Amino acid sequence: MNIDDIRTQFPILETEVHGRRLVYLDNAATTQKPQAVIDTLTDYYSHLNANIHRGAHHLAAVATERYETVRRQVQQFIHARSHEEIVFTRGTTESINLVASSFARRFFQGGDEVIVSGMEHHSNIVPWQLAGATLRPIPFSDEGVLDLDAYERLFTDQTRLVAVTHVSNTLGTVNPVAEMVRRAHAHGVPVLVDGAQAVSHLKVDVQALGCDFYCFSGHKMYAPMGVGVMYGRQEMLKELPPYQGGGEMIEDVTFERTTYNHLPFKFEAGTPSVGDVLGLGFAIDFMESVGVDNIATHEADLLRYATDRLSRLPDVRLFGTAPEKAAVLSFLVGEAHPYDVGTLLDQLGVAVRTGHHCTQPVMDRYGIPGTVRASFAVYNTRDEIDAFVAALQRILPMLQ
Ligand SMILES: Cc1ncc(COP(=O)(O)O)c(C=O)c1O
Repeated sequence: MNIDDIRTQFPILETEVHGRRLVYLDNAATTQKPQAVIDTLTDYYSHLNANIHRGAHHLAAVATERYETVRRQVQQFIHARSHEEIVFTRGTTESINLVASSFARRFFQGGDEVIVSGMEHHSNIVPWQLAGATLRPIPFSDEGVLDLDAYERLFTDQTRLVAVTHVSNTLGTVNPVAEMVRRAHAHGVPVLVDGAQAVSHLKVDVQALGCDFYCFSGHKMYAPMGVGVMYGRQEMLKELPPYQGGGEMIEDVTFERTTYNHLPFKFEAGTPSVGDVLGLGFAIDFMESVGVDNIATHEADLLRYATDRLSRLPDVRLFGTAPEKAAVLSFLVGEAHPYDVGTLLDQLGVAVRTGHHCTQPVMDRYGIPGTVRASFAVYNTRDEIDAFVAALQRILPMLQ
């Protein structure tokens, strides 16, 4: 794997911020895009723009064929059994809202409980509350490891679903999702996995995980914003009612009654973001050309290196030190507010995220207002981590 070659594919990495070469360490928020993905959008709108599935003309036919090809590409990428299990959405948030809304209408009976982990992103908390569920959070240790004994004790007759993140966006913990699915299924409870922070870092195999739903966003895996995926096991999707009504999701409409289209179209009402879906296809090409295992190995090296360098600095406190971790490093410096640290780092060209990272319960767990978060992607280098640590060292005296 040649990082220099990879970096040349990402034009934004040449950007200067406040007179310095950008060091982009906010990849958990969104990754940057390779030129091939950027070009897809221009190419689509220059040569192919058409609404899909219903046009009789050439452009509509080609756009439809490419869109459906990406569906099969996604199927292979996450090893789903059928392309009918792949539903395109706007992102993880919409995917989870889709499942929460449809699942609740089909399976909730009143007094319904959903088990979540204590480290969920708000988008895997609020949709369940909107659906009327009572949440039962799984506690986690100071290191950020879920307590599986406590998890076991949370199941009751009212448990309808487990909804858990594969990788924590704040702590970096890679949760033992396959084992958690096995235990939930032993109780007859289905499982939704939030894969927003997993798909770009590790190989995902939904059949090996055994989960019933797997949700992720394109923009966190080198694809454009505006496209995401809801994978659902076919047997489960057949049971669920549609999420939104409109064009494309129907078979037959009268004023008295509507029948619905077959999978996956039952869940894809209205005009989708075709160009972005094609971009997702090129993002998968990019990841597969590098190799997902190579990406994971490289990021593990960056994480080890950055953790080691950061933990040597005075007054730096790390949050999330689980043995199984992906490329996220959350920390605080002394008593300094994370926002101040982020702003000063930005002045030195280093882009990090600060705040609660849409995981307020995690902040409450540690009794802190937020953290500074550096998160890595395939194009980051040890040199950039050196620049980040040097910048931190420079601002440390200003934070006293
Ligand atoms: C773990 C996790 N879940 C869900 C989301 C929501 O993703 P999106 O905003 O792309 O819908 C994020 C985004 O940061 C995330 O990190």
